[in-house]
Amino acid sequence: MSVNGDPFYGSQGSLLTDIEDGLVVIKDGLVSHVGPYHVLAKTLDAKMPITHYPGGIVSPGFIDTHVHYVQIPVLASYGERLIDWLNLYAFPAEARFCDSNYATLVSQMFFDELVRNGTTSALAFCAVYPESVDAFFSEALRRNMSVLGGKVLMDRNAPMDLLDTAQSAYDMSKELIHKWHDKGRLGYAITPRFAPTSTQQQLEMAAALHREHPDTLIQTHIAENEAEVVWVRELFPDRAGYLDVYDHSGLIGSRTVLAHAIHLTEAERRRCSEADVALSHCPTSNSFLGSGLFRLRGVKEDKYRIRVGLGSDVGGGTRFSMLETMGEAYKVGGLTGYPINAIRLFYLATLGGAQALGIEDKVGSIEVGKEADLVILDTHSTPLLDFRSRDADTIAEQLFLLAIMGDDRAILATYVAGELAYCRDNANALLGSADGVGASGRQLPPR
Ligand code: GUN
Ligand code: ZN
Repeated sequence: MSVNGDPFYGSQGSLLTDIEDGLVVIKDGLVSHVGPYHVLAKTLDAKMPITHYPGGIVSPGFIDTHVHYVQIPVLASYGERLIDWLNLYAFPAEARFCDSNYATLVSQMFFDELVRNGTTSALAFCAVYPESVDAFFSEALRRNMSVLGGKVLMDRNAPMDLLDTAQSAYDMSKELIHKWHDKGRLGYAITPRFAPTSTQQQLEMAAALHREHPDTLIQTHIAENEAEVVWVRELFPDRAGYLDVYDHSGLIGSRTVLAHAIHLTEAERRRCSEADVALSHCPTSNSFLGSGLFRLRGVKEDKYRIRVGLGSDVGGGTRFSMLETMGEAYKVGGLTGYPINAIRLFYLATLGGAQALGIEDKVGSIEVGKEADLVILDTHSTPLLDFRSRDADTIAEQLFLLAIMGDDRAILATYVAGELAYCRDNANALLGSADGVGASGRQLPPR
């Protein structure tokens, strides 16, 4: 199953490829053929190994367009909204990432969690320390994963030990770009945290760095929380609004990914469309932090056609699972009078995410020539899903059940560039092992 175009426009049926008893042939990490088993199997070398997943659905790997790997240690922290949550939980947690060993342990846990949830690509925030970026990319490279990320830039309104300067942020980011960008399947994202924690000078230097390296991404947050929007207006009184702070600095364009975008004005949405920026919709985070409801209808309108992907936003977000994130996106759609059907939900979590990150030529769908990042979905992973799946007459009905009822248990296997990166039934054999050892057998980070 693969959604091979944007189903918010045009005929949805023709964009969904679903082959009953299909076969995906992988050569050198790429998809070389896709088709019915009975047609393709006889064309293969007899020695070619074939893995069968009877009853499973082969989907493109999921793409998480916004996540903070350094916030795993504060996932599910109680009681605060955005700014207080940052001060009370996120900043102290991120301060620990000056320690390379700690950063390495959390990175390992992060990538274990991604593949356990069928996520094969992500755009991630690291911490301000280059060590946190090195740990992240080293681990991704070791696993040959297609991920993007970058060092957070902050030169004000955060604890002293987390601050850089406009110049040091530029210098460190440039060095990290040289070290990691385009290495293996990695990409660098220039990462000013958000307008309140950067001076005008830092935002401008971030934009200058991007002009020098135009094939990097820019990622930041925008209009997530009403108090944040008011604060930005106070900090940048000469600007027309939140988006204009970034726009005026030179940070807005087709390589920019903006997380949340809940409280954008009509004029800002128009500008996002015109500049071809991409948005990351993070429903579990927006509910958890009480930030508000993202209005997908407003950005997918025919006149705007803004690129959108889904983000977990862990640790403001509460789930790595893109299946659960699809379910939450559906509920936010319900609350805003915009039900999102299964084809659209799966698109947002796969090709839509790839398009948001500018990697759609390589991943996001199962098509010949693309990198073989795949997930095998189990429609019988719980008694209830099994029971409900018996009523699913069409692939769209089955996918909808997975989006609403599925979670990590529905991930049977995850393939990264054609190699098995996770197999649920093998991993479970390791669960319940000695204290301090995770499901993969790794050492857990210290408390
Ligand atoms: N805005 C600025 N920083 C953050 C962060 O770490 N998480 C969320 N959810 N929003 C932010
Ligand atoms: Zn975030």
